[in-house]
Amino acid sequence: MMRILMVCLGNICRSPLAEGILRHLAAQRQLNWEIDSAGTGNWHVGHAPDHRSIQVARLHGIDISGLRGRQFQAEDFDRFDRIYVMDLDNYRDVLRKSRTQADRDKVQLLLEHQQPVPDPWYDDALFEPVYQLIYNACERIVKG
Ligand code: 4NP
Repeated sequence: MMRILMVCLGNICRSPLAEGILRHLAAQRQLNWEIDSAGTGNWHVGHAPDHRSIQVARLHGIDISGLRGRQFQAEDFDRFDRIYVMDLDNYRDVLRKSRTQADRDKVQLLLEHQQPVPDPWYDDALFEPVYQLIYNACERIVKG
């Protein structure tokens, strides 16, 4: 049993995609994992994912339309084993809420080699490449 939290800034573009993709891949492998997402900001609490994220996920057979935004909170360090952040701003903002070294040890960038998942908010053309980056990272996670 693994508990994984995906974190971005708004919890409407990147981290809902990451949650939906990892849920999909974990279900395929019949992994009984707990998977969630959150944003470091509070602007989109209670909101559905961005329509462009919903669309790119749907194109690949994944429905994320039922997800709703929430803000990352310190208690998430207790509720999850691993916390994947999309970029270094997210990393800094999540670590700011950490209380112990054990909290900090749970946090890592989703991509390898310190690469960020770019924020697609201002560029429609980024949603498909962002989907691919996140998908490949999630495959790596389920393969262990
Ligand atoms: P996300 O993208 O962090 O991938 O959800 C963003 C969504 C909203 C905003 C910024 C980034 N915003 O400024 O409202």
